[in-house]
Amino acid sequence: MDFQAWMTEQLHQVEQALSAWVPADAPAGLGEAMRYGVLDGGKRLRPLLVLAAAQAVNGHNRAALRAACAVELIHAYSLVHDDMPCMDNDVLRRGKPTVHVRFGQAQAMLAGDAMQALAFELLTPADDGEVAPALQARLVAVLSRGAGHSGMAGGQAIDLASVGHQLQEDQLRRMHELKTGALLQASVDMGALCGSADDSTRAALSRYGHAIGLAFQVVDDILDVTQDTEVLGKTAGKDQEQSKPTYVSLMGLQAARQHAHELHEQALQALVASALPDTQRLRELADLVVHRQH
Ligand code: IPE
Ligand code: IPE
Ligand code: MG
Ligand code: MG
Ligand code: MG
Repeated sequence: MDFQAWMTEQLHQVEQALSAWVPADAPAGLGEAMRYGVLDGGKRLRPLLVLAAAQAVNGHNRAALRAACAVELIHAYSLVHDDMPCMDNDVLRRGKPTVHVRFGQAQAMLAGDAMQALAFELLTPADDGEVAPALQARLVAVLSRGAGHSGMAGGQAIDLASVGHQLQEDQLRRMHELKTGALLQASVDMGALCGSADDSTRAALSRYGHAIGLAFQVVDDILDVTQDTEVLGKTAGKDQEQSKPTYVSLMGLQAARQHAHELHEQALQALVASALPDTQRLRELADLVVHRQH
């Protein structure tokens, strides 16, 4: 199956699963706000990484689909909170008014909170036959670390503390590795856990996830200055407007592009080192991360 056809099939599966799992009937309009923040939009890159990594190691499909939806829920929650007035104060996300614009700040905060908890509900189904208990525990360990103080939330704290400051490259790298890289790396790590890979293969896949995770935010910084709001589906030019340190503000557009290219190369080398027989889809996803237009 070619890559486009594979993507279409996986995306369809993920949309269906998310729609089934994000409850419309959560109390007092919370379900509506959650569904608005999660469904109909988003490139779903993190779920695709989980599924491609799982398939590369002949993984357990049902566990991988749960992990794919779980990481997307954490990501979608991070976007809802990232857009709130106390953070980046954005009014547009995925081509629609942001959750707090549509439902109010308190509901946006709660919708994010509930999405985060739902992610862990999906990883721990009551029926052990769905996902073996030992695998449940490993997936929860990886996702919680990617999402929390040592991952996304920690990186977001650095991001807010860095407004108006010029960071050194190692500080900027750390911020990007945490706020964005950690969830992308966790996506690959969770996929790898769903199958039977040895330690060295798992470590190589994790290096791949680390490289594309960082590349993803370098490209996000580039697109913020080079792309239109319409294509992005979120407000362009926000980083400079809000005095955020980025790879573009640190090294300029040309060098930022070169850096994304180097990280792309590192990711591809890690796939070779994984010694897996078929990494075509992971390769194509790395290309997508670096060459995407939105
Ligand atoms: C945007 O992520 C926020 C970052 C972590 C850079 P995406 O570009 O993956 O956003 P969606 O999910 O496609 O909307
Ligand atoms: C987002 O970084 C990282 C998150 C954890 C959400 P940005 O603030 O640059 O993401 P966008 O550009 O608003 O999507
Ligand atoms: Mg932000
Ligand atoms: Mg933002
Ligand atoms: Mg951005």
